[in-house]
Amino acid sequence: MSVRVIVLAAGQGTRMRSTLPKVLHPVAGAPLVTWVVNAALGAEPDETLVVIGHGAEDVAAVLPEGVGTVVQEAQNGTGHAVLVALEALGDVEGDTVVVVPGDTPLLTSGTLARLAAAHAELEPAVTLLTTRMADATGYGRVVRDDAGEVVGIVEERDTDETQRRITEVAVSTYAFAGGELMRALNEVGTANDQGEMYLTDVVGILAAEGAPIASVETSALEVSGVNSHDQLAEVGRALRARLNLEWMREGVAMIDPDRVYLEATVQLEAGVVLMPDVHLRGDTSVAAGAHLGPSVYAEDSHVKAGARVWYSVLREAEVGESAEVGPFASLRPGTILGPDTKAGTFVETKNTSLGRGSKVPHLSYLGDAEVGEDSNIGAGSITCNYDGFEKHPTTIGDRVRIGSDTMLVAPIVIGDDAWTGAGSTITRDVSEGALGVERSVQKEIPGYSAMREAKRRSDE
Ligand code: UD1
Ligand code: CA
Repeated sequence: MSVRVIVLAAGQGTRMRSTLPKVLHPVAGAPLVTWVVNAALGAEPDETLVVIGHGAEDVAAVLPEGVGTVVQEAQNGTGHAVLVALEALGDVEGDTVVVVPGDTPLLTSGTLARLAAAHAELEPAVTLLTTRMADATGYGRVVRDDAGEVVGIVEERDTDETQRRITEVAVSTYAFAGGELMRALNEVGTANDQGEMYLTDVVGILAAEGAPIASVETSALEVSGVNSHDQLAEVGRALRARLNLEWMREGVAMIDPDRVYLEATVQLEAGVVLMPDVHLRGDTSVAAGAHLGPSVYAEDSHVKAGARVWYSVLREAEVGESAEVGPFASLRPGTILGPDTKAGTFVETKNTSLGRGSKVPHLSYLGDAEVGEDSNIGAGSITCNYDGFEKHPTTIGDRVRIGSDTMLVAPIVIGDDAWTGAGSTITRDVSEGALGVERSVQKEIPGYSAMREAKRRSDE
């Protein structure tokens, strides 16, 4: 006997009112469907097949390796989607077929394994995953007879007054005996409010035949489906809370986890401190003892041990050990800050490296620059790296002192131990140990203030 999982992900998701297929909406850094497929893979089935339709190519592109796909050309309902999947799977007689919707990203591998285990033990025709909801709006209700046996599932739009009050709901997740599923599915019609083939009808058909039906209950939160943007936000909050809890258990400190936004791809070490409003995205890592926030947005960036970053934006940047960034720094792609460096207040860098101990404390722009070790870039200094046509490099050596408000017109090389005078526009290379200064001689006009006052009076 093998276990085959079918993930239903062909629907458009009309209620999202979006051009993006529903299952591609991202939540905590991954599309809805990716979460579900990863949960399915975690339960270690023999085969996983995703039914795609709306935006088929785009959906297929986000799926992990080893997952099959089948296209449901017209989305004629969840029952039709499973029928299409079964055609692709071939003979499933004797197998267990687990069906999962593509829009419940909080569903865990553990629950799927529990569903499959209950099904294997009881050997009914189908084992339903159900939950209890005080407000079951939008969900199919599980209808039971007086003996408590499942009679069927009724979609909300097809319920009567009494059925609408049922709080036990079906969540589109089932373990079926393959043969029973194939037979019952062939009897499913489209006589319902939407004129679609409902997978839920399979349960009623099996029940009417007197086939045994089992059920496994889980928490309502875990099976919350996403049909609209408000539900997407709610599910996102829960996913983030789950991720944050896992990281806190790994030794990451958060003074307010509700205000820490981590994507699933982010890697953290024990001893990291995350203050409120930290957003870490994509391929980002933070090493032990680094202190981030308040207010840091970092994507595809790496922060080394003991660094401190606050009120700043990092994109494809690397912050070295014990380096300091911010407040209000923008580290753009290709920034590599060495150990013990500083990119301080209102500093922007792009494609720039700072060697160990070098500092850019205030109000500077460095683009296409390579700075050696222990150099200091004075406040307000700028690399003029773009001549309107091309970008040019600036090379600054070790132990250099760039005076405040220096314009470095690239391409340019400043040698080791060199200096530039404050306010200079440096257009030629400065040799090792030299001072490059470009300034007109300061004039002094004595009595200037009195002269102006006299002029004002004579004009009156
Ligand atoms: C479905 C269930 C309902 C359950 C609810 C919550 C049916 C008829 N209803 O309703 O009992 O309470 O989920 O989980 O099954 N899909 C396809 N092809 C289609 C139609 C849908 O692949 O032709 C996919 C969708 O992309 C989605 C999933 O199936 O991932 C569920 O479809 P959705 O429209 O969200 O169903 P609900 O109305 O929520
Ligand atoms: Ca749904």
